[in-house]
Amino acid sequence: MEKKRFYITTPIYYPSDKLHIGHTYCTVATDTIARYKRLCGYDVMFLTGTDEHGQKIEEKAREAGITPQEYVDRIVTGKGGVLDLWKLMNISNDRFIRTTDDYHVAGIQRIFRKMYEKGDIYKGTYKGKYCTPCESFWTESQLVDGKCPDCGREVRDAEEEAYFFRLSKYAKPVQELLESGTFLEPASRVNEMINNFIKPGLEDLCVSRTSFKWGIPVDFDPGHVVYVWVDALFNYATALGYMNDRYDDFDKYWPVVHHIVGKEIVRFHSIIWPAMLMSVDLPMPQKVYGHGWLIIDGGKMSKSKGNVVDPYVLADKFGVDALRFFLLRTFPFGTDGNFSNELLISTINTDLANDLGNLVSRTTAMVEKYFGGKLIPEREAAEADGELLGLIRSTKERYAKQMDAFQLHVALEEVFKLIQRANKYIDENAPWVLAKDESKKPRLATVLYNLLEALRVSLIMLSPFMPDSCARAFAQIGAEGESTGWDKAGEYGVLPAEVAVHKGETLFPRVDAAKMLAELESHSAKKEAVPAFKPVLPDVSIDEFAKCDMRVCKVLACEAVPKSDKLLKFTLDDGSGKPRQILSGIHSFYEPETLVGKTVAAILNLPARKMMGQLSEGMLLSAVRELPDGKEELHLMILDDAVPAGAQLC
Ligand code: ME8
Repeated sequence: MEKKRFYITTPIYYPSDKLHIGHTYCTVATDTIARYKRLCGYDVMFLTGTDEHGQKIEEKAREAGITPQEYVDRIVTGKGGVLDLWKLMNISNDRFIRTTDDYHVAGIQRIFRKMYEKGDIYKGTYKGKYCTPCESFWTESQLVDGKCPDCGREVRDAEEEAYFFRLSKYAKPVQELLESGTFLEPASRVNEMINNFIKPGLEDLCVSRTSFKWGIPVDFDPGHVVYVWVDALFNYATALGYMNDRYDDFDKYWPVVHHIVGKEIVRFHSIIWPAMLMSVDLPMPQKVYGHGWLIIDGGKMSKSKGNVVDPYVLADKFGVDALRFFLLRTFPFGTDGNFSNELLISTINTDLANDLGNLVSRTTAMVEKYFGGKLIPEREAAEADGELLGLIRSTKERYAKQMDAFQLHVALEEVFKLIQRANKYIDENAPWVLAKDESKKPRLATVLYNLLEALRVSLIMLSPFMPDSCARAFAQIGAEGESTGWDKAGEYGVLPAEVAVHKGETLFPRVDAAKMLAELESHSAKKEAVPAFKPVLPDVSIDEFAKCDMRVCKVLACEAVPKSDKLLKFTLDDGSGKPRQILSGIHSFYEPETLVGKTVAAILNLPARKMMGQLSEGMLLSAVRELPDGKEELHLMILDDAVPAGAQLC
């Protein structure tokens, strides 16, 4: 019989910085669902990847002095990058898409053309507000206190020729889709989308840009690059071979696509995405599930706030499975959760070391001690076993119901009810007392067998969450092959009568909270003392270096750029006799009046560009240091006043 299919995706990540525990949370959750579905016998396609285009990447690469492709390669495939992190976290994705992959680029060009030819994309002029970090356009009415409604940062005025997608045309069918059932979950997000975005009126969406280059060119109008969200959202389709010939799985998996996304990108996935799918005549995804954020002290983790938590450090200190488990056991998947090291340690100690770890080690130790590692087939059941056996048989159904609804923390709660009941069963039956009386051996064997069975079914259900630890625990309790499969997760009496156990190493050692917290503290304290030294960039030749025209300049005037928190406008004497204007994002470090008259250095032969509608003809040189908390400290390069304007730096 052909297997049922299941297609599940994570968002594709911006490789603008290293990934943190918040990104890890989403990917681990999706991986767990994918593993659960495979366990249940589904033919699963699990996709993740990286979203590599856009102005932010272009700017970061420019700052780093490398090409955008080199920049994203470093973060995606480089040491300690995205691929390494997913390998470490035991992520079982079947496919990994990079939006810079050739087949995706070609696919997006065809998709864009298809929407254009249908009349759903047209050319116009864009006037509005643009948030550079989020790569999002907003209308005035969508801004919150004049700032980006997603990230709260400054937006800027933007006006340019652009292509638009007729989002307004699809407002009604998208609203019907949202109201029609379980397309978007948790259900609370449906009203949010309808009331905040659809009811105020959906405006057509600007879907091309001309002010930067790092994107997929519109093939019939090469000055334009495709808006990064069109490029990114269609990854879910191109990765299966839609509009390209790299893969051929589209018909197989598309009808069963499930998107797991963070709450701030639900808008893109539940309004813009369905509208574009309607435009290209593709069926709707089965589900978009918007999970909450991991927050710290009430705020979202972000590099600019300097409160990111490094998954590499936590996995190293606590183990990959303990970390995976913690993320999904502690925080309800649909709502925000406050991350703390204390919570992590207490979850590991209570659930893994005490409840699960102890059950495995006590049970296997007793089979070894009282039966030399191999149970005897004689049994003597008692009425008091009924409750435990009932849970062994019934937990699977309740667990599956929750897993199917992506309520991962509730599913775990069901398994832990069984584990806790089994621990209580040990105390009630006091095997160490039974062991003192030879005639009670059959009863002792029954008690231990029941415990092994409770463990076996619990481990089956825990295996999507902690695959490696469960594999080791199965070996310890003597479970293998079919007895560890989903079909046997709701049955009692599956292990052989003379099951042999092998007590092994402790699965989840208890964490010494005080010591560990001090270690984590000293880890960040050490970083405080010695800021990370960024690796030296690859060599350039003298000739290449000589192409940079760096000059000494005198600051003639300096003022803040209206409506910008960051930008200062400099009028400089560069020695040419004609004043030069340069904009620099250093307002948070300097007051403009303190810089007038100073002698500074600038690179003059960078292409001129507009910022906030004003021309910038070069870049001032500064020394930048990244602080341990992720923030940057900047010092403008100020030279001796004796150096004349126009002198070259070499
Ligand atoms: O949004 N807690 O990429 P991204 C929980 N490229 N989840 C978090 C989080 C936190 N603290 N921080 C980030 C993008 N995330 C786009 C997606 S899909 C076609 C394009 C989640 O790298 C966030 O909610 O900024 C999002 O779902 C995912 O990480 C990727 O974020």
